[in-house]
Amino acid sequence: MTTQPTPAIRVQGLEKSYKSLNVLRGVDFDVPRGTILALLGSNGAGKTTVVRILSTLLRADAGTAMVNGFDVATQPARVRESFSLTGQFAAVDEILTGRENLLLVARLRHLKAPEAIADSLLDRFSLTDAAARKVSTYSGGMRRRLDIAMSLVGEPPVIFLDEPTTGLDPEARIEVWTAVKQLARQGTTVLLTTQYLDEAEQLADRIAILHDGRIVVNGTLAELKRLLPPAEVEYVEKQPTLEDVFLAIVGDRARTTDGTPGQEPR
Ligand SMILES: Nc1ncnc2c1ncn2[C@@H]1O[C@H](COP(=O)(O)OP(=O)(O)OP(=O)(O)O)[C@@H](O)[C@H]1O
Ligand SMILES: [Mg+2]
Repeated sequence: MTTQPTPAIRVQGLEKSYKSLNVLRGVDFDVPRGTILALLGSNGAGKTTVVRILSTLLRADAGTAMVNGFDVATQPARVRESFSLTGQFAAVDEILTGRENLLLVARLRHLKAPEAIADSLLDRFSLTDAAARKVSTYSGGMRRRLDIAMSLVGEPPVIFLDEPTTGLDPEARIEVWTAVKQLARQGTTVLLTTQYLDEAEQLADRIAILHDGRIVVNGTLAELKRLLPPAEVEYVEKQPTLEDVFLAIVGDRARTTDGTPGQEPR
């Protein structure tokens, strides 16, 4: 139907093999504009392979992939202008400060007013206080937030996040989740890969499960839950999760601000 807006990402019949290993065997999914799709799959399912094809780093053997209305195979330059990628391993420069990293990207992209862009991203990702410190002194969560901030320089309409929270502690993961949710609220389309069910639950408008080279399920969390028979009702005390306990003990320093006694002086 011509009245339907084109999705920000459209993947149809995507196939990819590495020699005799058939990793993708016909992958189909759409990501509507301004939404978050979580591509869920175990280790080796082919998540990074999908992201590499969408980001024009790898050619598919068959099928089509469109990003922002452009075909990755025939219009790779237009595709590259449309997205940014935060890879599975952080791309920040350790010996530069957070602010210098952002300035570097803004200058490489020939943007006007790189200082203003850097400062607004530092603010958006709660890194203003750490802006002048070398990244080598940052925590894992701060690095990841800086990494995501760097990928937003130039305001790409589409962002690929490949396992954005792998290796982070629960507090840092929540910081990254907050940043990602904010992105989608501002209209950015997000394709996120993850192995974590709770991450998909927290973040995604829709969840697609990649298994044996295909998308085996694609739906909202509520739709996915309806796929399982309802659990038997049991009367038990609601126990806090390990994550609740961890956060209660370690505390969320960023949010228990204003004058709590015992805080270290700045
Ligand atoms: N360049 C390559 N050459 C050969 N095999 C590869 C190559 N890249 C990936 N593979 C294989 O393809 C399969 C899918 O890899 P991919 O990295 O896409 O999985 P993934 O879902 O991202 O896994 P992870 O959760 O570990 O990141 C794996 O079995 C991997 O070993
Ligand atoms: Mg991967």
